[in-house]
Amino acid sequence: MNDVHVPVLAEEICYWLSPKAGGIYVDCTLGMGGTSLKILERAGNNAYLVGLDRDPEAVAYAEKNLEPYSQFVKIYHGNYSHLIEFVHQAGFEKVDGVVFDLGVSSLQFDKPERGFSFSSDGPLDMRMNQTQGPKAADLVNCLSEKELADLLFVCGEERFSRRIARAIVEARKTYALDTTQALVAVIKGAVPSAYRRGRIHCATRTFQALRIRVNQELDLLQPALQDAVSLLKEGGRLCVVAFHSLEDRLVKHLFRSLAGGDHPTITVLTKRPITADEQEIQENPRARSAKLRVVQRLPEEALS
Ligand SMILES: C[S@@+](CC[C@H](N)C(=O)[O-])C[C@H]1O[C@@H](n2cnc3c(N)ncnc32)[C@H](O)[C@@H]1O
Repeated sequence: MNDVHVPVLAEEICYWLSPKAGGIYVDCTLGMGGTSLKILERAGNNAYLVGLDRDPEAVAYAEKNLEPYSQFVKIYHGNYSHLIEFVHQAGFEKVDGVVFDLGVSSLQFDKPERGFSFSSDGPLDMRMNQTQGPKAADLVNCLSEKELADLLFVCGEERFSRRIARAIVEARKTYALDTTQALVAVIKGAVPSAYRRGRIHCATRTFQALRIRVNQELDLLQPALQDAVSLLKEGGRLCVVAFHSLEDRLVKHLFRSLAGGDHPTITVLTKRPITADEQEIQENPRARSAKLRVVQRLPEEALS
């Protein structure tokens, strides 16, 4: 397999999903197909897999990488907000397992021309699906100072959100902020020097906030997870890997609410999130912030 993107916690996902021959699995964030490949290998030769990704480039890679299993795999270019339609289109009503491996793939992050990384220069794009929607540059150049500050505060948990927003609005009076390094320079000029020299790069949180908004990451996730739960057979499992605290908090609270109350639909199998061990982190630094949570669909009688 062409492994530009090393899947995170793929062993643990397989352990919890426990894929079996004849089972039906959905990978909502196919990427290059690494996690899916492991699921298919683990299941033996005849499990079915429906894979989705909103990034056409990822879909092309996944098709190539999953070629040996092509008769068991249906791959769609699309958003997981249409998860149920894709599963029905593939000919299935209910499934045995669903996986969300959230965040950006290395395929996206490591390409300067995609604009996700503050470490290299490129257009300020950040769209996972480059065929539609506004780019990060459109937000940076069009939102009001207050809208920018709120975005950086809410989606980036950036404590210097107001200063950075003010500096962006000031800078764009004289030039368009349309490259990653132009934005990094403005951020560096806006924050205190101690923050500039801090443990994490001072542009990390601004870039996270823009990426979340450009791709509507938090807005789309909750309804998609609810759809995933509704697709599960009794005993079917949903595995979600989150990479930042906003995402993980959303997953945790949703799972807690679906598992509680008078009509619980799931039980939470991971009381604490599963994290990568030191060896995986050494081999794949992206794994450092990953958190896996798993739930299981309750039997029908428990739902009434
Ligand atoms: C971390 S990568 C997944 C990597 C994958 N597990 C692998 O082994 O290659 C996340 C992928 O999810 C996709 N993605 C993010 N949000 C999506 C959405 N709303 N609908 C469909 N795909 C999405 C991204 O385009 C990206 O390719």
